[in-house]
Amino acid sequence: MQDFEQFIGSFSFDGRLAEVDINSSIAHTKMLVKTKIIDNSEGEKIISGLTSILKDIKEDWQLPKEEDIHYAIEKELIKRIGPIGGKMHTARSRNDQIVTDLRIYLKQEIKIIVNLISDFQRVLIVKAEENIDIIMPGFTHLQPAQPVLAAHHLLAYVWMLQRDKERLDDCYKRTDILPLGSAALAGTSFSIDRQYTAQLLNFKSVSENSIDAVSDRDFAIEFVFCLSLTVLHLTRFCEEIILWMNPEFGYITIGDKFTSGSSIMPQKRNPDAAEVVRGKSGRIIGDLIALFTIVKSLPLTYNRDLQEDKPSVFDSLDNLKLCLEVMKKMVDSLKFVEERVLRSTEKGFIAATEIADYLAKNDVPFRTAHGIVKDIVLYCKKKSKTLNELSLAEYNKFSKVFEEDIFEYLSARSIANMKTSYGGTSKKSVLHQIENIKNKLKLIE
Ligand code: ARG
Repeated sequence: MQDFEQFIGSFSFDGRLAEVDINSSIAHTKMLVKTKIIDNSEGEKIISGLTSILKDIKEDWQLPKEEDIHYAIEKELIKRIGPIGGKMHTARSRNDQIVTDLRIYLKQEIKIIVNLISDFQRVLIVKAEENIDIIMPGFTHLQPAQPVLAAHHLLAYVWMLQRDKERLDDCYKRTDILPLGSAALAGTSFSIDRQYTAQLLNFKSVSENSIDAVSDRDFAIEFVFCLSLTVLHLTRFCEEIILWMNPEFGYITIGDKFTSGSSIMPQKRNPDAAEVVRGKSGRIIGDLIALFTIVKSLPLTYNRDLQEDKPSVFDSLDNLKLCLEVMKKMVDSLKFVEERVLRSTEKGFIAATEIADYLAKNDVPFRTAHGIVKDIVLYCKKKSKTLNELSLAEYNKFSKVFEEDIFEYLSARSIANMKTSYGGTSKKSVLHQIENIKNKLKLIE
C-alpha cells in the first residue's frame, strides 16, 4: 500500500519545515527536562541526535521518506540514538506540532517579505525623486483627466506597499502564539511548562484553548490574504507598465532583460516580466481561495484536510517573493521618455478642469463654468486646436470673464503645481510626501 501512504502523507511538500520542526522539538525536549518529565541524560541524547540530523540536512543530506516530516525526523532520531528517541514525543501530538512549525515558519517569512517590500519601496522613492520634474497625464476611467507629477503617481504605490507591510505586521501578532502543548486536542495530563517552551521558541504568548489551537488555520489564511493584496497592488503597476510601454503611449522604457522579443515579429519587445507578475497573481489569489475552501465547514478539531494547506501557503510566498525581486529590478531600470509624456499632456484637454476653476474663482457658478468649458472643448475639437492654441478673443466668445492671465492656467506644469492641497500633486506637496514616507521607512534619521 505504498501509494496509499503517499496519498495520505505530506512528505513530498512539508520537507521545508525540517529545520523549524527540529528546533521546536529541541525546545520541547528542554521543557520536558526542566519539568522532569524526562531526565537530563535522556534530554541530552535527544538534543544531540536532533542537532546531528539538522547538521546533515543543512549539508544536503536527504531524510529517508516517511509519511510526513515529523515521522521522518522521529524515525531518524530513533535510528541514531535508539528507542530513547521516542521520548521526545511525550506530551505532544503531530496536531500541535504541525501548527507550531507552520507558525514559526510564517513568522520568519513575514520578516523576509516585509524587508523585500521595503527594498522595493526604496527603489520607487528614488525613481520618484529622479523624476520629480516630469509631468504626465493622470487618468480616470483610463481617459486623460488632469496633469500630475510622475513622482506622485509612483509614490501612490509606495503608500499601498506601506499598508501591505502594516497588514503583515498585524498578521505577525496573531501568528506569534504558541500552540505546542495542546497535544492532540485536549491538552495533556503531564505537568508541562508551556510558557517556558514559548520563551525558548520566541513566541509572545501561548494559546488559550487547545481545541482552537489545533484546529485554527486563520493565521495562515490571513497571511496569504496579505500576500494576495500585495500582489494585487503589483499587478496594477504591471498593467500600467505594459500600457506605458506600448508605442501608442511610449511613456517609458524598461531594461531589455525584462522584455523578450517575438519569435516571428522582429520589431517587438514584449513586457514579459510585468505580464508574468500579473499572471502569478492569479496563482496567489487562487492559493487564498484554496485555503478558504479547505478550511470551510471543517468540524473541530484537527482534520487531515488541513494538511493540504501547505502547498498553497508555500506557493504563494515563493511566488510573491519572486515578484517583489523582479519588480524591484524592473522598476529600477524604468526610464520616462520625457518628451512623449509631455506631448501627451497637451492632448486630451487636461487643462479643462483648471479653466472651469478659473471661472469659478471669478464668481461664475461652477456648474455654469463646467458647461462653458465643455463648449470650449467641443469648439477646439471642431477646429482641431488644443486649449493652448486658442486666442483670448476666442476664449471671450464663450465668456467675458477670461483675461490674459488665463494662459498661465494652461500649461500642464503650472496646473499640477497649483494643486498645493495636502496630499496633492504640486511639487511642493510631493516633496513633503517624500519626506514623510522616508521618515516612515527610517530613511531619514
Ligand atoms: N502531516 C500532518 C499535517 O500536515 C501532520 C499532522 C497529522 N496528524 C494526524 N493526526 N494525522 O497536518
